[in-house]
Formats: sequence, C-alpha cells, structure tokens
Amino acid sequence: MRKFQILFFSLALVSLTTACENEKTVFIKKNVAFVTAQTDKMLTSVGKPDGKNYPRTMNDDGSLAVSSKYDWTPGFFPGSLWYLYELTGDHKWKDVAEQWTNSLESLKTFTKHHDLGFMMYCSYGNAQRLDPKPGSEAILVESANSLSTRFSESTGVIKSWNYRKAWNDTVEWFYPVIIDNMMNLEMLFYASKVSGDKKYYDIAVKHSESTLKNHFRDDFTTYHVVNYDTITGEVLNRATCQGFSDNSMWSRGQAWAIYGFTMVYRETKDPRFLDAAVKATDIYLKDLPEDLVPLWDFNVGEPGYQPEEKSYAVQFQEKCKDASAAAIVCSALFELSEYANKETYIDCAVKMLHSLASPAYRAPLGENANFLLMHSVGSIPHQAEIEKPLVYADYYFLEALVRYKNLKK
Ligand code: GLY
Repeated sequence: MRKFQILFFSLALVSLTTACENEKTVFIKKNVAFVTAQTDKMLTSVGKPDGKNYPRTMNDDGSLAVSSKYDWTPGFFPGSLWYLYELTGDHKWKDVAEQWTNSLESLKTFTKHHDLGFMMYCSYGNAQRLDPKPGSEAILVESANSLSTRFSESTGVIKSWNYRKAWNDTVEWFYPVIIDNMMNLEMLFYASKVSGDKKYYDIAVKHSESTLKNHFRDDFTTYHVVNYDTITGEVLNRATCQGFSDNSMWSRGQAWAIYGFTMVYRETKDPRFLDAAVKATDIYLKDLPEDLVPLWDFNVGEPGYQPEEKSYAVQFQEKCKDASAAAIVCSALFELSEYANKETYIDCAVKMLHSLASPAYRAPLGENANFLLMHSVGSIPHQAEIEKPLVYADYYFLEALVRYKNLKK
C-alpha cells in the first residue's frame, strides 16, 4: 500500500511539473509568435537605418514617431532585434540586428549626455554577448571611455545632463545626476573586464556609492535629480524632472534604481548594493495595483505632493499607468530573485510578465504603430508621450521574456 502511495504521488508530481512547463512553453511560444510578427511589420514601416529613424513612440495620429541617433533611445530597437534573435535562433533577426547596431558606431565618441550606456550597451552589448567580435569589443571600450569623460573626482558621479534649470525656473543645475544613470554603468563594468583597465570599474563603483548615499530617501524611494556643486562635490538640491513632484516616487525612476543596483550587485558582489536593490524593490511592490503595472508616479494627486507650476502635471492628474516601468522591474526581478533568494520575486516577475502580455497592455497585431506594448508614459511634466508605446518598454519586455525562458523553473 505504501509503495503504491509513493508511486501515485510521484506520478502526480511529474504530471503537475509537466503541466506547469507546458503552460510556460505555450506562453513563450505565443508571445514569440506575436513579437516576431509585430516586429516584421515595424521593420517594413521603418525601412533601413538612416541615422534619423530609430523607432521611439507613436504620434497622436497613430503613426510611428522616430528619433535621431543622438537621442537617448536609439539602442533599444537594435537591442530588441538581438533579443528576437536569441528567442528564435533565426538568422534573419541577427542580420537586421547587426544592420541597426552598426548604424550606431559613430556614437562611440559621443559625450554630450550620459546615456551612452543605453545607446551602445543595449545594441553593441547584446551584439557582443550573442555574436562576439573584436570590432564590437573595441567600440564598447571606446564608448566607455567617452562616457567616463563625464565623471569628476570632486563629485564622485557621472554628470547626466549639461546645464539646465529646474521646473521652478530659479534653481540652476550645473551638475545634475539622475537615477537613470545607474543603467549606464553596465558598459563600464564590461569595459574593465575586456580591457583589463580598472578605471571604468572604479568609476562605476564610485558612482553607485554616491547614488546610494544621495539619491535615496529614508524609505528607499528615490529622487530623480540630484544636483552637485561642481567644485566641492556637495549636494546642492534634489528635485524631479519627469516625476509628479520633487518628493514623489516616479515609477520609472524607481525601476531604474531597482534594475541598476541589481546589476551593480551582480558586477561587484557588494552586499550594500544588494540591500539597496531589495529595499527599493520592496517599497515599489508594496503599493502596486492588482495588475502589477504602476501608475506613472506612485503619488499622483496625493496630499503632500505638489508639482511645480510649470510642470504639465499641475493640470494633468489622470491616473495613467506606465507599462515601461513595469517591464523594467519585471526583467530586473528575474535576476534579483536569484541574488536575494526570494521566491516571491519570481512569482511577481512571472505575474508582471503575464499582465504585460495580456490584451490590457500587449497591442493587437498591426496596431500601436507596430510597437509591442501599449500604455506607457514618457514624461507628463513635459506633456510628452502620454499613454503611448515606448521603444524601451518593448526592449525590457523582450528581455524579461528571454530571462523567463532561461529560468530553470
Ligand atoms: N532616461 C529617461 C527616462 O527614463 O525617461
């Protein structure tokens, strides 16, 4: 009798595991079928890369809106094509991924803003990971060198933007650093590994330490912008540029912090960075809506949170969701769950991915200017890209799909 029971339970366990595996396999297959069909349409509509036509978002009339290669987003479309190659093994995707990636080569000497990591590591970084070539390696090291020119010893951070004014129109930012900047560090870690020159690693670690010290509030929500004194390195002021108010939790900023500190922990194994990633995640997960896709800012319209007069957020207080933040966090959680050893993070990541892949967020074929996800927010304060697709939402959605596929569970 006992032997029979053991056999019965083993069989039940095997069939349960197979059922789960099947569910996952079917989910991935269906999504890959959709993303390849949708991206085929995108390629037809956008044509070949010409330096000015990197898919970015959708115009109000439903047509495709593109950016030049000097904006912060040109690396995401090539990066998405590399993920399609990884998901399918089909060389057709590799060929176009290469074409779009190579069109960015001249950016290796670009120093006008801090986004070179997004631009070059999402494109050439993925190229190098999936199809290593000495040429791409050299381009990435040169890009890391260009990015490093924006670091100063006195502040201990890479300058994100050049001079600009805060929303209040009086405070001037001479050395603004935004939380997003954490994402550019991955290319620096890579450059040190392949060049043997530790300087890039040291800059990335110093920037992370300064960000840990200066960007987090006591509850581990983050400020978007921290402005430094260029000479003394002292923090002069903290504010928002794309969030609801200076003291609010801007969802995508928090997402960059979660993803960024997870990646920095991977590269350094320093527990301070893991602790930051976990705490930033826990406060983010605490107040999420049921579908796990956040409002564009967690504090929209709440008492105690007031946008500056010039921000469009003063008049626009609709509670829009931001699928881009959800996609970034979803991808990050697949990785963070490994380091933090938290099963709940995997459950959350899988649920987020299912939510994003549901008809509520995933576009119908041939619609949404052929982007994958709907309902993101670029910047409400600037009255830009509200309730629109965004190329980076698609990129991190695809990355999350790859990470889910590779998950051993
Ligand atoms: N890095 C700019 C943004 O997240 O909108």
